[in-house]
This record gives sequence, C-alpha cells and structure tokens, in this order.
Amino acid sequence: MAGEVEQQLRAYVEYLRDMGVHDFYRQGEPVYADVASASVPVAAKVAADDVVVETRPLPAKIAVVEDRRLDPVASRPEFLEPPIPKLVSFDDLVPLPESRVDAAHKAEALAAIQTEIGDCTRCPLAYAGRRTIVFGDGDANARLMFVGEGPGADEDTSGLPFVGKAGQLLNNMIQAMGLKREEVYIANIVKCRPPANRVPEPVEANTCDQFLLRQIDVVQPQVVVALGSTAAMYLLGVKQSLSSLRGKWHSCRGAKLAVTYHPAFLLRDPRMKGDAWKDLQMVMAELGLKAPAKA
Ligand code: URA
Repeated sequence: MAGEVEQQLRAYVEYLRDMGVHDFYRQGEPVYADVASASVPVAAKVAADDVVVETRPLPAKIAVVEDRRLDPVASRPEFLEPPIPKLVSFDDLVPLPESRVDAAHKAEALAAIQTEIGDCTRCPLAYAGRRTIVFGDGDANARLMFVGEGPGADEDTSGLPFVGKAGQLLNNMIQAMGLKREEVYIANIVKCRPPANRVPEPVEANTCDQFLLRQIDVVQPQVVVALGSTAAMYLLGVKQSLSSLRGKWHSCRGAKLAVTYHPAFLLRDPRMKGDAWKDLQMVMAELGLKAPAKA
C-alpha cells in the first residue's frame, strides 16, 4: 500500500516538474519535500514553528509533509492521488439537474459557483504561475455560449476570458453573427492559465470541468460553440479531428453543440476563416440570427 502511494506521489511530483513547477514551497514551508536523508526530517523544522504536522512514513526518498493548517486542500487525499485521466462527455458526467435555475436567479447562481471556486488549489495549475482565476463572462441568460481552451496571458491579467488577440477576433465573429459580446456567455475548459499557454492536461481539465458543467447548466444556452479541439474533446468526450466534428450538431447539457476553429488558430491560418463562418452560419440559422447589413 505504502509502495503504491509512493509511486503515485513520485509520478505526481515528476509530472509537476515536467510542467515546469519547481517551486513546491508555499508560505515559506515545503508542502512536498524530497528527503534524501531521513535523519534531517523537514517535519521537525516545521514543527519548530509550532505548526500541526503529519508525516507519512514512506519507505524511500519522498516524504509528504502535510500541514493541514497552512494548506488544507493540498493535503486532501484526492489531491495526492489525481484522478485517472479518462474522456467522459459532459452529458455522461452527471444527469441534467431535475430543477432548472430560472432566468431571474441565473446571475446569482453563477456568482455562487464562483464563490465556491474561491482561490482554487484543486489542480496543479494553481501552482503553475496563475495570477487570476478566469471564471467566465457575459449574459447569464445567454442563448449562445462559447467555450475555449484556457486563459492566456491577457486573460490571466484581466480575469476575463478572450480579451487578447484571439478575443478580439472572437468579438468580431460575435458581431458578424449580429450579436454583441455582452449578449453571449464565454468560458473555458480550464479557468487558470496553463504555463506558456500549453494545452491543459487531462487532470486539470477533469478537475475544472465540474464548474464549467454547472455554468452551462445554469445558463442553459440553446447553443454551445466549442472553440477548437480541446474544448470539443472535453465537452463531447471524444478525441476526433476537428474536421470530422465540424458542420454537424452534437449535444451538450440539453443544448445543441457546434464545433468550430479556435480564434487563435484562425489568426495563424486566416484561410480557414471561411470555414469558420460556415460553422457560425449554422449556429445563426438555429438561433434565427441575421448578419448585420454592411455599412
Ligand atoms: N484562448 C482561450 O482558449 N481562452 C481564452 O480565454 C483566451 C484565449
């Protein structure tokens, strides 16, 4: 049993290091410590500061220092044993709620989810340089919801999704559909910026999805648009090429779901904008929207 725990811990610490997280220290004290010599226990140093400390006697080099007072979340068993990555569609994660939030209470319900997220430390992204948790933005009663991948540098600074260059293109796309940004709802698969804008890891997406799922359940959009393959993969629970997912309807939490290119991809390859426009026209037909007349 101890061997199993040790193996899991090793894998997790290595995983964090691979991600570029080399600083395992919070508030000046180690949460995880690589203890080469058992005769110099880190726990003793912590205890000297009169901190409640529990150590697990693991046989080899890694010891876990659990400081429940300083870091109650990091010491939870599920944090130490990350969920096994598996792809499950948002529809298969949990059934739709029996009672739905009514229009007058949606903003309040979203605020409650945000409060519950708090200063989240549920996944490694909390320790990977994130500055702000980017919850989501827009009309709590929106008929149309866009889901991207994860915040970038601009979003991490501002706390709002899609405010950088890709966000400007998304704004233009929304406008071309005859809508204003304030009329739609925008969120991401993960709410914290992955380091160097890398794709979120499964453990990060699978930890954060519970909140996005509830945001979708509260907003109850008529249509969800998955922006790019990461959003499509996690929302639909399938790993397929974007081209095989585009141009048809899928379903997600009672909404119709369409897949299109991520605006960041369109910035890199503007030739694909025509195809993205076809995807948006499919959405517009469903929502009865007309493109504004050109001035
Ligand atoms: N890319 C995303 O996927 N989401 C953002 O919020 C910004 C850029």
